[in-house]
Amino acid sequence: MKKDKIAIIGLGYVGLPLARLFATKYSVVGFDINTKRISELMSGNDATLEVSDEVLQAVLVDEPSEKAGLYCTDSLEDIKDCKYYVVTVPTPVDKNNRPVLTPLIKASETVGSVLEKDDVVIYESTVYPGATEEECIPVLEKVSGLTFNQDFFAGYSPERINPGDKEHTVEKILKVTSGSTPEIGKKVDDLYKSVIIAGTHLAPTIKVAEAAKVIENSQRDINIAFVNELAKIFNLMDVNTHDVLEAAGTKWNFLPFKPGLVGGHCIGVDPYYLAQKAQEYGYNPEIILAGRRMNDSMGDYVASEVVKTMIRKDIKIKGADILILGITFKENCPDVRNTKAVDVIAALKEYGTNITIFDPWANATEVQHEYGLTSVNKLPSEKFDAVILTVAHSEFKELNFDLLKKETSVVYDVKNSLLESQKDKGL
Ligand SMILES: NC(=O)c1ccc[n+]([C@@H]2O[C@H](COP(=O)([O-])OP(=O)(O)OC[C@H]3O[C@@H](n4cnc5c(N)ncnc54)[C@H](O)[C@@H]3O)[C@@H](O)[C@H]2O)c1
Repeated sequence: MKKDKIAIIGLGYVGLPLARLFATKYSVVGFDINTKRISELMSGNDATLEVSDEVLQAVLVDEPSEKAGLYCTDSLEDIKDCKYYVVTVPTPVDKNNRPVLTPLIKASETVGSVLEKDDVVIYESTVYPGATEEECIPVLEKVSGLTFNQDFFAGYSPERINPGDKEHTVEKILKVTSGSTPEIGKKVDDLYKSVIIAGTHLAPTIKVAEAAKVIENSQRDINIAFVNELAKIFNLMDVNTHDVLEAAGTKWNFLPFKPGLVGGHCIGVDPYYLAQKAQEYGYNPEIILAGRRMNDSMGDYVASEVVKTMIRKDIKIKGADILILGITFKENCPDVRNTKAVDVIAALKEYGTNITIFDPWANATEVQHEYGLTSVNKLPSEKFDAVILTVAHSEFKELNFDLLKKETSVVYDVKNSLLESQKDKGL
């Protein structure tokens, strides 16, 4: 019988923390197609900053072994003798917001090529209900030649980590688990239970677990869309949205959501997975897509609010120098994927303004590569006609805005993280 050796397929924001955690108890092989990522990890450094060098180095082993520890590789040979395959590859959308399952299918082909009798394949990537059994399992069966639920089994355990959050780390977040049969469900649940301190919730089926994840993020998206709409309404009424939210928040069941830009590859993406599947069933989701439209409109809205505030102060718009504070999709995290700060920038460029981007967390090469934008990690020494705080990195709270402002200028706070005295306006 094979030992409980685990392969993690895809060592990104989700896969690496999970691989590290399992490696404290099990022999783990981390597999990724990105060779650069493998060498970086094997040298004991995680560029996503989710796992500290010290914690990573404590579990790394120099070669594949049967003992507890993590070995990272891009070689199929090294994952052949694993019993559990945990898939944590990206599930993005295309430019028309349609789900892209290519990484998931490719990863299933990889696993299928090494799959053996009694192995268990667990998917963690966020998908729509049905994706594991309808899209991934047929690939595993075809490539391996094995029969599902007879020769090999599957599970789904959605990831709930929150990048940049050093408090709610993977072992401290209760995890939903599921399996392709009741026995496998129990087995998958026991596996996660052995490392997740917060415990687990065994869902009755894979589809239920898939649906649970996608609605968690859709619910968040819709709630933020509602407060974004409130921000637009209260702005017209000249009422401070945050004062209203604070007052309403004193009721026990009022939910504490705040307005903002909804970026990243989870909250702004996952609702499209649910929407597409609903449409396949002939149901046209209204609330889910209305939420998406509202949140996607916020970049333009922020830009127009900044411009109006500048005009009120008689600042010439064309040729104005504007400083953007933050280009990552969220605070205290280097992830720039699907950041909505770029929507603010694109809209401001249409007004003929000059944009400078300062972000101490973002990798400038990545920003250039992804968006064709230049960003700097060092605070500029020039002065600006407008400063927009788009991301609430902790460092920005310490900034002396007087050093950044021209004599007449505007400070706009998207995140409500500055003092009233520091800003002219906010979302
Ligand atoms: N980041 C989050 O906050 C978060 C939270 C919960 C769930 N999720 C979900 O988890 C999944 C992974 O997200 P992520 O943020 O870790 O993505 P990521 O882009 O950070 O990492 C994915 C990794 O998979 C690798 N990869 C891609 N195709 C591969 C293949 N065929 N074989 C092996 N490796 C491959 C990539 O090189 C990359 O290193 C997604 O479905 C996402 O929606 C993400």
